[in-house]
Amino acid sequence: MSSDQPAGNFQSVLDEQRVFAPSPAFVDKARVNADALAALRAEAAADSVGFWSRLAREHISWQTPFTVGLDDSAAPNYRWFTDGRTNASANCLDRHLGALGDKPAIRFEGEAGDVRIWTYRQLHAEVCKLANGLKSLGIGKGDRVVIYMPHTAEAVIAMQACARIGAVHSVVFGGFSASSLRDRIEDAGARLLITADGGRRGGNIVELKKAADEALDGACKSIEHVIVFQRTGHPVQWNDKLDLWWHDVLATQPAQCDPEWVEAEHPLFLLYTSGSTGKPKGIQHSTGGYLVNATVSCQWVFDLQGSDVFWCTADIGWITGHSYVTYGPLANGATILIYEGAPTVPDAGRFWKIIQDHKVTIFYTAPTAIRALMRLGDEWPAQYDLSSLRLLGSVGEPINPEAWMWYHRVVGKERLPIVDTWWQTETGAIMMSPIPGATPTKPGSCTQPLPGIFVEVVDEAGTPIQGNNVGGYLVITKPWPSMLRTIWGDNARYIKTYWEQFGNQYYVAGDSTHRDDDGYYWILGRTDDVLNVSGHRLGTMEVESALVSHPRVAEAAVVGRPHEVKGEAVFAFVTVRGKRPEGDEAVALAKELRDHVAKQIGAIAKPDDIRFADNLPKTRSGKIMRRLLRSIAKGEEITSDTSTLENPGIVAQLQGKG
Ligand code: WTA
Repeated sequence: MSSDQPAGNFQSVLDEQRVFAPSPAFVDKARVNADALAALRAEAAADSVGFWSRLAREHISWQTPFTVGLDDSAAPNYRWFTDGRTNASANCLDRHLGALGDKPAIRFEGEAGDVRIWTYRQLHAEVCKLANGLKSLGIGKGDRVVIYMPHTAEAVIAMQACARIGAVHSVVFGGFSASSLRDRIEDAGARLLITADGGRRGGNIVELKKAADEALDGACKSIEHVIVFQRTGHPVQWNDKLDLWWHDVLATQPAQCDPEWVEAEHPLFLLYTSGSTGKPKGIQHSTGGYLVNATVSCQWVFDLQGSDVFWCTADIGWITGHSYVTYGPLANGATILIYEGAPTVPDAGRFWKIIQDHKVTIFYTAPTAIRALMRLGDEWPAQYDLSSLRLLGSVGEPINPEAWMWYHRVVGKERLPIVDTWWQTETGAIMMSPIPGATPTKPGSCTQPLPGIFVEVVDEAGTPIQGNNVGGYLVITKPWPSMLRTIWGDNARYIKTYWEQFGNQYYVAGDSTHRDDDGYYWILGRTDDVLNVSGHRLGTMEVESALVSHPRVAEAAVVGRPHEVKGEAVFAFVTVRGKRPEGDEAVALAKELRDHVAKQIGAIAKPDDIRFADNLPKTRSGKIMRRLLRSIAKGEEITSDTSTLENPGIVAQLQGKG
């Protein structure tokens, strides 16, 4: 294991000894108790393909049943259920219309307090209308549609409408800039863009249409139309050649649209995510296999049952918003809650008020949000009735034991199970997590792989490390249905990124992990140049490219440093053209560079710290010494030998001392 990876909460997790057993009251009603879990594990261990095939038959509706479980003839491009046909939208909507037609599918609340509820029947009708609208514009199976929407029910409707007609959606987070949107549209070759006039957050309007116009200006020639949902009603520019109002598109369409039955392997969506090199890559997911894991993981991990109101706070622009806002819970016929807005509007009690008002039973959020809510003080959750809650979840980054304990004590009143779920955009669904009615939990550990998921800890050579109390690279050793299929348009990169390191034997997650004496896993952080800022993945190279695209910047190196709320913060070392700025000039240029990065990528990528230097630390062969920069960013004492540097004198300046 390289010593220059972000150590995160390594020491504190190794010292963590507390164990929390599931409460008998929860176990009594749980879908999966310890015996059931043991049976699932045994079944999967005996025949993992047979195991997933059984679940695929039981939990997914197929128009044409499959006979093939796993096709590994083109490994590591694995394919599942290849001769079956299904449709994701039919699984999420149509099959519930009989028994659950009048059940709320979506409870939406806007920041201003506006509430709207869609029953399954209403949601189905709306999705069908939009699907017909898309067809009327010539969009069909295999066409790519980019969705750049606020976090509203309509975003889910847009995804479902694409799925319904076999179009491949690619959701771009509304916080990404015009330039990020443009890159994704162009890479996907999208024919249609679905956006909104704006979104609402923190009392402000998020100018989505304006960013979309900017993205399309002189670029994105593949786009034939832009459908604009009216959310804010504020004036926007209009391009008669491209733009259509959502309400106009839907107005004339029938509320029935037969689903397009697609092969199980038909791509359901692309979702762009950051890697260590190059531009964000389009992770391609399948229809059938993806749905299987998204659906059953809701039952196992969240114990999802008919009466639940499930609130996953992730934006639909991230994988968590795909699997646990849109596809997983709806395929299970659950009620989801969607909130568009900031957690602190009008005050720091907003999340807890939403839980009280909508009687949320399952709350799934990210450690960064938990830490932020924790800092606001215990008095906020104390003011609200949280007794509807029965399960808490965490996702996106390692949760430090302190935040876990606060979640447990203040939100969970020491009675609710906490599921710390480890997974990735690439895995499609949760891979490791406690099963709430079966697994004793430890603060900071995602415990063990789900049934049917097989992981190992391997060393530099790719050899599995036997036994417990060991650490190394995390790999997944057997294919699973919701695994990514490829990187859109670049299968060589798919193989190189995820398989080649250990001879195409294992899926390489890119995380390092520790397996403790009880066989529990503790995720320690990324092994590559990917940062995790507030649970969002950012490539250091992406931020560096954004910085050097500014005319004043000559060179930039970006590393992460620990941050109390965000987990990691972006720290940039920059050399400029001309004289190194100092004093007020440095402050002004740093601000300009931060805004520049926000414009190039999005506000989430803004560096917290920018330090100007005459030079970056390089080895004599010209390689930037990132390890040294990481130590400096953390404020560590530099004890390592810097004499191999081409320019050892630079260290003091990088530390801000020179
Ligand atoms: C990290 C989010 C520790 C990890 C679903 C992974 C976690 C990356 C956890 C994927 C967790 C996610 N504990 N680390 N419970 N969940 N991660 O693609 O480094 O946005 O590789 O998917 O987040 O981020 P992504």
